[in-house]
Amino acid sequence: MSLQPHLASQNFHSAINVVLDTAYQGISDSDWKKLFASARQSGLEQFIADMFAGKHINNSEDRPALHSALRNLSKTPVLINGADVMPAVDEVWRRIEALCNQWEGITDVIHIGIGGSDFGPRLAIEALAHVPGIESRGMRMHFLANIDTAELARILAHAQPHSTRVLIVSKSFTTLETTMNAKAVVAWLKENDCTKSQIAHALYAVTANVTAAKEFGIEEDNIYPFWDWVGGRYSVWSAVGLPIALQYGFETFKQFLAGAESIDLHFKNAPLEENLPVIMALALLYQQEKHGIKAYAVIPYADALDWFPKWLQQLDMESNGKSIDRDGKPVKHSSPIVFGSAGSNAQHSYFQLLHQGTEIIPIDFIAVREPMSDRPEAVAHHHILLSNCLAQAQALANGKDDVNPNNVYPGKRPSNLLLLPKLNAFYLGALLALYENRTATLGALWNINSFDQPGVEYGKVLAKPIEKALTSHQNNIQASAEIDAVTAARINFLNS
Ligand code: F6P
Repeated sequence: MSLQPHLASQNFHSAINVVLDTAYQGISDSDWKKLFASARQSGLEQFIADMFAGKHINNSEDRPALHSALRNLSKTPVLINGADVMPAVDEVWRRIEALCNQWEGITDVIHIGIGGSDFGPRLAIEALAHVPGIESRGMRMHFLANIDTAELARILAHAQPHSTRVLIVSKSFTTLETTMNAKAVVAWLKENDCTKSQIAHALYAVTANVTAAKEFGIEEDNIYPFWDWVGGRYSVWSAVGLPIALQYGFETFKQFLAGAESIDLHFKNAPLEENLPVIMALALLYQQEKHGIKAYAVIPYADALDWFPKWLQQLDMESNGKSIDRDGKPVKHSSPIVFGSAGSNAQHSYFQLLHQGTEIIPIDFIAVREPMSDRPEAVAHHHILLSNCLAQAQALANGKDDVNPNNVYPGKRPSNLLLLPKLNAFYLGALLALYENRTATLGALWNINSFDQPGVEYGKVLAKPIEKALTSHQNNIQASAEIDAVTAARINFLNS
């Protein structure tokens, strides 16, 4: 693979001032041409059009994947079975704005949700806290996801019950971790002498299952709906993103949506050769074909984006970690393993393997041009941060020879550089939408349905009889159709 620099114009792509530099992918011009031609031939352009048009691209569940409608601030009609969804989306925006305006005297928000009902808002709350000068209510924002009571105990030790609001966030409203944690928080409110009406006032739900939320005891006025055509991991743009609006204001939330909307317009309209999500997807595909890569890393050189790789893990691996395609046939390729964490910290952890390990692992380096604090040291530190980012990419690409084999760097390790002009709500929204669209593109190119997740169900089913056995405290559980011999022995050990 040649990693000679090409003319900047051939490797630099940009949309809304987000720059993608693919120079270190080592893909020749003729290979790029072939990649775009095969993408075109596979019907990618039609897939993109179908996605925005509300066609049932989630074929296994026979529904559209229309999260783009949630950031369609222009309110251009988006039709599902002939009915425009935008009035309902707009109504939720109106209610979020109204809630923001009446949100007074709240010290703590406990956001209860897991997976797609957690990562997006958690990442955004964390990332935007680093934006210099951002207006914030300064509430303590607690994210409660794990069924492990350690997280619950930590949060409840810090929250003030009489000025806490609880957001129960679950598309299905049947997720065990979420409903059990919600019950525990309600119990805590009761233990702390909150009256029935105070508790009713404190509880909010965000869900596509309004009936279940009502049954749980949430008042109708406090339920913020979203819809089955929004996948959980694509849902931060719905009322799932409520914490963003509550902490940083509705205008900031709108900015977040606006950044995503701008990327959607780019993804929808730009030719494949200039289309950032498409180029990123094709680069990964190339490395899969050429080097059989099994993993890729995303390293944001921005502490504010430390949660980004975790968000991306669900997005990519839950969307595209599948062995069969849309037609039930085995796939040649699907999602590689995704990992990463903020640079430069990551350099002091697993970069050894990236430089000298036996695997070739492509990397997305994400950098932000502007420093993320107004400390007097900010500019000097930022130059070091950026220089580290650039140096790692260069070292990985070019490698280094040495007489001592220990000091040989093989090089030819591909990477992208994604450069954001700054990190604010707009560019955070843009970044997330860029990757969402890249994930959808990869799914389309692999002919995988990126919008279902059947593989997460089996373990949940098996957990039920195991829980029952653990709760029985018996240590003579026998292997059965539901519990095999290994697991039975483990249960018996735990129960003894
Ligand atoms: O178990 C996986 C999953 O279904 C994810 O797809 C989803 O984001 C998460 O659980 C939470 O689901 P819900 O929002 O329905 O509680």
